Amino acid sequence: MTEPRAHALSAKPPTLRIRDLSIEFARRRGPDLRVVDQVSIDIWPGEIVGVIGESGSGKTLTSLATLKMLPKQARIAEGTMHLGETSLHDRTERQMRELRGDQIALIPQDAMQALNPTMRIGRQVGEPLELHSGYGQAQAMDSAQKLLKSVHIREPETRVREYPHQFSGGMQQRAMIAMGLALNPQLIIADEPTTALDVTVQAQILKLLREIRDREGASILFITHDLGVVAEICDWVYVMRHGRIVEEGALRKIFMAPQAEYTRQLLEATPSIHTVPGTRS
Ligand SMILES: Nc1ncnc2c1ncn2[C@@H]1O[C@H](COP(=O)(O)OP(=O)(O)O)[C@@H](O)[C@H]1O
Ligand SMILES: [Mg+2]
Repeated sequence: MTEPRAHALSAKPPTLRIRDLSIEFARRRGPDLRVVDQVSIDIWPGEIVGVIGESGSGKTLTSLATLKMLPKQARIAEGTMHLGETSLHDRTERQMRELRGDQIALIPQDAMQALNPTMRIGRQVGEPLELHSGYGQAQAMDSAQKLLKSVHIREPETRVREYPHQFSGGMQQRAMIAMGLALNPQLIIADEPTTALDVTVQAQILKLLREIRDREGASILFITHDLGVVAEICDWVYVMRHGRIVEEGALRKIFMAPQAEYTRQLLEATPSIHTVPGTRS
């Protein structure tokens, strides 16, 4: 049994509620292949929720289903998803486009690949404002400068005019986060956002995401295969394996009293974690 989650007593609905989500791939021969099996996840306002599991466990597909961005061969076999009161189930592609970026922002693993190499950083960071809010180019550029500042990029007034290759990996990821913040989303999905970065830069990005949660009150779905990263940033944790949630709980409980054998294996395989989460100031 899991301990009750304080938010569950609140009158507000969760920011995101996924219930019994299953995802299958069509195969040329044989029955459909089920890669996500009856996954249920809640994310409450202002919470940073971790989904941890080894590569191939279904983390990315679960998050892509939320955005209705699954690969063509994949389909949602069952389940429901709600963003606040709104069911995502019956949304058309057009409605989903409005929602993406506007209410849900996706921060990908590889910022370099996600950024357009031929477009100035400022244009890209401000683009959601041009597309969704009817800003003109100059106005969007101006906002981009403020957004870069809010993710602690120095000299944003010159940086907005630069191209992605002039940014370090950490700065590119900050720029992606800035773009994600442009429209004040209530939910930020970060899929292994620090995996491509070295440890020092990784710690800075995690600190930034925590700060954004505190400042903007956004909820964050944080996907990772790294338990050390979970310990740094998450409030509540889902452990995923072979397409299923094998355990969920408050961060402390996952580390102090793991129930699932698989969670224990993950803990043993992460010897670098010496401090008990939640005891830091
Ligand atoms: N386009 C695809 N075609 C076929 N199988 C896929 C495709 N994308 C992912 N899968 C399979 O679905 C499973 C879950 O993938 P994914 O959600 O990307 O895992 P994770 O993000 O946890 O590493 C994996 O076993 C993977 O091989
Ligand atoms: Mg993945």
